[in-house]
Amino acid sequence: MPCIPLSVRSLSSSLLRSLLFLSMTIFLLYLLLFPNPLLRPPAASSSSAAPTLATAAPTLATAGATSVHHLLFGIASSARAWPRRRDYLRLWWRPALMRGFVFLDSGVGGGVGDDPTLPPTRVSADASRFPYSFKGGLRSAVRVARIAKELVEAVDGRFAPGDVRWIVLGDDDTVFFPENLAGTLAKYDWERLYYVGGRSEGLTQNMAHSFGMAFGGGGIAISYPLARALAKVLDSCLVRYAHLYGSDARIFACITELGVGLTYEPGFHQVDLRGDLLGVLSAHPLAPLVSLHHLDNVEPLFPSMNRTMALKHLFEAVNVDPARILQQTVCYDRLKMLTVSVSWGYTVQVFEGNQLLPDLLSLQQTFAPWRRNRNIASGFYIFNTREFPRDPCKRPAIFFLERVFSGRHRINSNYSRHVTNDCLQGMSSTKNLQQIRVSSQQLNHDIWQAPRRQCCDVLPSSTDTVMKIDVRKCKDDELIAMQP
Ligand SMILES: *[C@@H]1O[C@H](CO)[C@@H](O)[C@H](O)[C@H]1NC(C)=O
Ligand SMILES: *[C@@H]1O[C@H](CO)[C@@H](O)[C@H](O)[C@H]1NC(C)=O
Repeated sequence: MPCIPLSVRSLSSSLLRSLLFLSMTIFLLYLLLFPNPLLRPPAASSSSAAPTLATAAPTLATAGATSVHHLLFGIASSARAWPRRRDYLRLWWRPALMRGFVFLDSGVGGGVGDDPTLPPTRVSADASRFPYSFKGGLRSAVRVARIAKELVEAVDGRFAPGDVRWIVLGDDDTVFFPENLAGTLAKYDWERLYYVGGRSEGLTQNMAHSFGMAFGGGGIAISYPLARALAKVLDSCLVRYAHLYGSDARIFACITELGVGLTYEPGFHQVDLRGDLLGVLSAHPLAPLVSLHHLDNVEPLFPSMNRTMALKHLFEAVNVDPARILQQTVCYDRLKMLTVSVSWGYTVQVFEGNQLLPDLLSLQQTFAPWRRNRNIASGFYIFNTREFPRDPCKRPAIFFLERVFSGRHRINSNYSRHVTNDCLQGMSSTKNLQQIRVSSQQLNHDIWQAPRRQCCDVLPSSTDTVMKIDVRKCKDDELIAMQP
């Protein structure tokens, strides 16, 4: 039948024409609505990409609260360590949002060039003219200390005032939690002179260096005006402090001579510890988790995973609710006489009986000191500790993060029982408990202005294999206790 092709053709051509007209109209409307190409909504393909505020429009960043793009990082590494250690950077570095450099002692060969998903590498300036006299120490400490100066010199005058507000120094094995770092620094006026960081966990390390020193592996944040002053005078300090051990001691000495003292923030973790960090991470201070260091030297954060997988797993929770990560909340099941301690995004521990909150804040000693020697003080820490019983029947039931789900209003995280830890006698009232489900809301960084622990409730459950916990803001005069 000859007419069919014809009608199809005429139909298709009229359809084509109207389609063309329609699309022209839409296009013209589009141009009318969005005359400036900068105002047009992003194309679908790029809508998932992170904003490129960092490099594209630096002046936009000068106003408002301090956030990740106001920080300039200087990461100390070496040509030998970088190919291995950059896996740590991959966990937390957001190339489109962050600025900084990795400083190496020499160029990296063997095809390890700059990777656009990581900070660019630079070779540190030669520091061999500076003296170093600490016996048995590493003279690379001088080169690493000078990162503070080279960092300022690399950017000074290239950004609008207020665009770079802090420089942050860290090691290649320092894992930063960027939103929490920015949230912590946002409490301070970056236009004044601030030196922010944390101590070593070990008493003897602080005694040997100083209780006023920010330990470098945990990260050191220096407000930009102080960093500029430091950059000017650092070389003269390096001559005067040749006898000190590390780069952080040199920075500390020079900042001390500038008349500035440490602003201690307990979320920076040097982790001068070995073994299992469970005790440290399940009773985090009432402050955001800013950094973790030395993770090569401790067991993987989650049992049954290797180090890399375990850190990625932690970041699944970090990425959903950074301010809440590791925050400890305690609640009670009065009927079953249980005490539940939640370290959000990491672990839940269920204790038989009534455990008082102040006791739960001291750290279960699952870890060992950095240096095991005959000096009895090497096992002393700068926080309270309590025994972690060898006998599994005397330990709490321990649950580790399995998954985090982010809903429209609430965040649900579930935790599954760590079985190898179990007491085999199985007489306890928690013997059937297999999983804990925790519901919470995203925590705003504002709470760190005047931190208050949150409260939680053990919800009624129809089964003894699942426990449901609801985390919420405490009422004004609410007490965290079994029988208030
Ligand atoms: C860690 O575990 C993951 C998944 O089980 C595996 O792909 C990866 O190769 C492991 N990494 C190391 C260093 O063993
Ligand atoms: C966690 O939630 C997922 C999805 O609902 C479920 O498949 C898994 O069994 C849960 N695990 C625990 C330990 O609650």
